Amino acid sequence: MRIIHFDEINSTNDYAKTHIDELENGAVIMAEKQTAGYGRFKREWVDTGANNIYMTIILKDGKILPSLTQYLAVCICKTIESLGLSPLIKWPNDVLINNKKVSGILAESIIKNGNLKGLIIGTGINLNSTEEILKKINQPATAINLELEQSVDKLTFTNILLNKFFNDYKLFSTKGFPFIKKDYERYSKLKKNEEITISIFNKTETGIF
Ligand code: BTN
Repeated sequence: MRIIHFDEINSTNDYAKTHIDELENGAVIMAEKQTAGYGRFKREWVDTGANNIYMTIILKDGKILPSLTQYLAVCICKTIESLGLSPLIKWPNDVLINNKKVSGILAESIIKNGNLKGLIIGTGINLNSTEEILKKINQPATAINLELEQSVDKLTFTNILLNKFFNDYKLFSTKGFPFIKKDYERYSKLKKNEEITISIFNKTETGIF
């Protein structure tokens, strides 16, 4: 895996999108600081300081993977759980600890002239932050150091997470969601057969999870 590191960048997802043609399959873009990080619906992703994770993985094996966000969410949960915490996935793309957001995931397909150039999947993980900084986020948020009451080594956490992601990626990409179903159900905040209501733009739909 090739890691491309920046001290400062607008957004690791934006860099991946703009440079998709030069980037190799499995490359990882990482930054110490993002000046224009974004999440779903172009919402701002607040920069919570250099000891946090802002990264984007590039996948160019020609596949559309509908459960990629869920796959990365499971890998993040396993990494957090290895530190002794109990994370949950809030469908579709948030990871929570004690009901507060600790990580968000944004997968995008890059299509140019009707051709799939690649998939990019970015995540922001609050590893080491302060209550003061987290107040800038417009929803209840936490950081792993606050939950553990001790700081987290960024390099170790990143290595564990990326190894998990790439070790099982081949199996996941051939088997799809069934490969992670058990783990996903274990970490999911919503339970199987629970009624859910979702609002997308002006439309509200109710269904069974
Ligand atoms: C969300 O919660 O809506 C998804 C947030 C994704 C944020 C990450 S931070 C690294 C990468 N670069 C971005 O601009 N966004 C993603």
